[in-house]
Amino acid sequence: MNQLKTFDVAAVRADFPILARTVHGKPLVYLDNGASAQKPRCVIESLRHTYEHEYSNVHRAAHELSNATTEKFEASRRTVQKFLNAPEDREVIFLRGTTEAVNLVSNTYGRANLKPGDEVLITAMEHHSNIVPWQMICEQTGAKLVVAPMDKTGTLILDQFKQRLSRRTRIVSCVHISNALGTINPIAEMARMAKAVGAVIMVDGAQAAPHMRIDVQALGVDFYAFSGHKAFGPTGIGALWGKAGLLENMPPWQGGGEMIKSVTFEKTTYNTIPHRFEAGTPNIADAIALGAALNYVMELGHEAIEAHEHDLLSYATETLGAIKGLRIIGTSAHKAGVISFVLDGIHAADAGMILDEQGIAVRVGQHCAEPVMAFFGVPATIRASFAFYNTRAEVDALVKGIRKVQELFR
Ligand code: ALA
Repeated sequence: MNQLKTFDVAAVRADFPILARTVHGKPLVYLDNGASAQKPRCVIESLRHTYEHEYSNVHRAAHELSNATTEKFEASRRTVQKFLNAPEDREVIFLRGTTEAVNLVSNTYGRANLKPGDEVLITAMEHHSNIVPWQMICEQTGAKLVVAPMDKTGTLILDQFKQRLSRRTRIVSCVHISNALGTINPIAEMARMAKAVGAVIMVDGAQAAPHMRIDVQALGVDFYAFSGHKAFGPTGIGALWGKAGLLENMPPWQGGGEMIKSVTFEKTTYNTIPHRFEAGTPNIADAIALGAALNYVMELGHEAIEAHEHDLLSYATETLGAIKGLRIIGTSAHKAGVISFVLDGIHAADAGMILDEQGIAVRVGQHCAEPVMAFFGVPATIRASFAFYNTRAEVDALVKGIRKVQELFR
């Protein structure tokens, strides 16, 4: 891997083999990082290395291979701990991703602590995965789901968020960066407000982890989740961090091997954290490769990544904003590298297809955020979402592509 002092985007791109390919005979312009990011060679090599040299089950055997794999697996847990600046590695639970993390917390902490009359507070810009699990658990416990509104720029209205907090609020669950709008929420402030009423706060960090430094201690939150595949790691692996004191007192979720201390037909006692929440054989090779991805990101450096992506966002906002008939959805003053937009008289799906013919990958649709689309009164948007390997030249290609779409529909 390249050791980079300053951010050299050409060198970074060389670490991602897929970026060199063409699509429909055109150079790939990959602007769908919000859905899933591409993988650096070190991640691909980590997977290959594990399966070729060190693969075995973890925590289960005394043989050499199992010891080696267990050591790598646990080292990766420590990498996640470092990535999140978590106090302890046992607070990191490997699971499939953010969706599974929200389901775990709602089904354990939520089910154990919610009763009729209690409230769960979310925001109006949540992804379905931070709405539906809470709706399900509210239905089952009699608790109420409360939604804090945003304004027409897609910014959370903090006063209204505060107004909706009360002693009835047991859980706040909110997105760090909106996948559909790019808005960055003021999590530390929201956490202080949640704590003031005695609520716990969970953060969906799926879009934040790939783009900004995450410090769960500085944020003052209780649970933080992210997905590996959006953070340049493999698909099907992610992590949930939770405060040890909370995790230790939560009932288990899935039952099975590894999450137990002892089992008889009469009674089972449960393992300590994190294993209590990792029933069954985990996703070993992908967890190890996730560690490689996070180390890669940390070696690039969050300051350099954030500066580069900020430049891309400003440039794209300016150049796309200058296109007649294009309206950006989500114009918060505090945004990450996501630009959602609509084109007058052109359906997002048609635009996506024509952009694809030019080698440009964007996401079109509702972005698993139907309430956000409803709020802005649009059926769908076209979304360009950036990663640190994107360039201003790719933004230019997008602008050219959009002009072509508009010409075809003129
Ligand atoms: N949540 C992912 C996205 O925003 C899939 O595209």
